Formats: sequence, structure tokens, C-alpha cells
Amino acid sequence: MRRRDFVKTPLIVAGAAMVGKAGLVSGLLGAGMAHATQRAGVPDIALNNGMKIPQLGLGTWTLRENATACVRAAIESGYRLFDTAQMYGNEKQVWEGIKQSGIARKDVFITSKISTNSMRNPPQRDSIDKSIELLGGEYIDLFMIHWPVKDRIQETWVTMEEYVRKGLIKSIGFSNFNPHHIETLLKYAKVKPVLNQIEIHPYHTQEPNVAATRGYGIAVESWSPLAQGKVMSDGAILGIGKKHNKSAAQVTLRWHIQRGLVVIPRSKNPKHIAENIGIFDFELSRDDMAAISGLNRSERVIPGADPDNFSW
Ligand SMILES: NC(=O)c1ccc[n+]([C@@H]2O[C@H](COP(=O)([O-])OP(=O)(O)OC[C@H]3O[C@@H](n4cnc5c(N)ncnc54)[C@H](OP(=O)(O)O)[C@@H]3O)[C@@H](O)[C@H]2O)c1
Repeated sequence: MRRRDFVKTPLIVAGAAMVGKAGLVSGLLGAGMAHATQRAGVPDIALNNGMKIPQLGLGTWTLRENATACVRAAIESGYRLFDTAQMYGNEKQVWEGIKQSGIARKDVFITSKISTNSMRNPPQRDSIDKSIELLGGEYIDLFMIHWPVKDRIQETWVTMEEYVRKGLIKSIGFSNFNPHHIETLLKYAKVKPVLNQIEIHPYHTQEPNVAATRGYGIAVESWSPLAQGKVMSDGAILGIGKKHNKSAAQVTLRWHIQRGLVVIPRSKNPKHIAENIGIFDFELSRDDMAAISGLNRSERVIPGADPDNFSW
């Protein structure tokens, strides 16, 4: 497919479609209609290849053996999206949680990412095969390039496309891509990238990258959506929470949702896991949204996590 075809692809990033008149999320609950209650009202975002991704999921970075229990708790609370990566070393434990929960494979959406190390050490197929095996042996819903490793992106992307053709990976995307990385990739990509997972939270709102990514018809997902816990003590966010009778975590996650972003908060605490999905019964006002966006200071939570200059 040519680059301009990507650009023309209508992206139904569902921000506008999600919030109904009453401010409650109606969403695009596809086959999961019967799961509506269990999913705690989590809407889907339409991807450019016809797939749908739940708009809220569980992040699993730093979870190890406890990932299994966290995933189980999350499924009980209504989560259906799980984000892991080769670099997290917990794909097996994440899958174990899904398996133990007894939920059908088709009812969960699993995302994983190829590590920078695997990108630098071809054949990348070995590590991709291993991810598929660790994640249940059937398929991965979305597989991403974790970081834009210089001079290794094209070979990795072309390899990932092979897996899409074989049906072993349903969709492919990337993480930590700036617009210039996307522009270059689109010149040779034959399979459309569906999503860019980037750092977004109230202290790093990333409006330009979000707009540019969407301009290519690619959905955007927020990593470290709670600024790794920093938002919890923010006076402005706590103040907005008081008005709505919601916690700082809930207000912040709702801000991501109303921006139309996919969001993947991480927690090892079952109470927080349940709290973080309780965000589909209230709506932030335009002023609330602007006040939270106004906290931006373009501050990264991980030192050195600059997509154009990282050391891992
Ligand atoms: N692609 C990338 O390069 C990249 C980079 C970083 C992260 N990610 C992904 O994004 C996910 C989320 O980011 P993150 O893990 O960096 O951090 P995060 O989700 O922004 O914050 C996690 C922190 O917030 C706390 N927390 C969560 N819910 C809470 C609540 N309701 N009340 C109080 N504290 C709460 C957690 O503590 P408790 O455990 O005690 O609840 C934990 O310390 C990752 O797990 C990973 O899947 C991707």
C-alpha cells in the first residue's frame, strides 16, 4: 500500500463517538456486547484494519510472578486488554493469568513488543516465535516495535509483516515513534501500522505527536498514564477529583479516555486495579480537561526515554 493510502485511511479514533449525551460511554462494544457489564463499560477503539481494541487495559511493566494474579484480578474487574513486552520478562506470567481466569482467548486483546536486543540480533523471528509461544501459542493481537532502534526498524517491520500474513500476529504497530519515524516507515510498509504507544500523562501531554500520529490514521495509546504514580499527589488533579468524588488516578485516566487515547495503567494492588476501571460513570468538563492538559511541562518520567536518543 502506498503512503498516501495510509494517510487517507479513516481513523475512527473513537473519542467523539464514545461519550453519549448523558456523558456515559456507549462505545463500540462489538462481539463483546454480552460482556458489557463484565467489561465495566470499557469502550472499544476502532483500528484502521477493522479490529477493535479495548480503550483501557492493564500495563504490566515491572510485574513478574505477581503478573499472573494481577491479570486475574483485572479480568474479574472487567479488563480485557493486557500490555506486555519481551523486555518485561513476563509474557508467560501474563498468559498464565489469562488462562487461569478461564476467559475465552477471543475475548482478550494481548499486546506485546519486540525488544531492542532482539531487533539488533537477527533473525528477529526467533524472539517473535518465542513471544507467540509464551503468550498461548496461537496468536498475538497487536505486536509492536518497542523502541525505534536506528537502522533496525525496516528489517524488523518486514519480518513482523510476515507474521501478519501467516495469521500469527493480527496487527502490528510501534511504540515511542516520533512523526519522522512514522513518515519513514510508511514509505516501505506493506501492512498498515495500527497504533503508536507513547508516553502520555498530565506532565507530558504530547499534543503534537498525538495529532501527527492520528493524521496517519494510526491510533494512540498512553504509556505511564499516571506518570508512574506522580499524579496521585497533584493538588489540581485532587481538586478536580473532589468535585466528582473520584480519585486522582480515576480523574487522570478519564482525561486520557476523553482525549480518545487507549490507556494502560499498571498496578499490583487489586483495589487499585478495580478503582482504575471505575471511570465510565462520570465526565470531566471542558474546563477540567483544559486544567489537566495545562499541567504539561513536557517532562518524561523515565530519564533518557527520548525516542531520538536512548541508550537501551
Ligand atoms: N512502550 C514503552 O516504552 C513503555 C514504557 C513504560 C510503560 N509502558 C507500559 O505502560 C504501562 C503503565 O505505565 P507504568 O507502569 O510506567 O506506570 P503508571 O501506570 O503510570 O503508574 C504505575 C504506578 O501507579 C500506581 N497506581 C496505579 N493505580 C493506582 C491507584 N488507583 N492509586 C494509587 N496508585 C496507583 C502503581 O502502584 P500500585 O502497584 O501500588 O498500585 C504504580 O506505582 C506499563 O506497565 C507498560 O505496560 C510502556
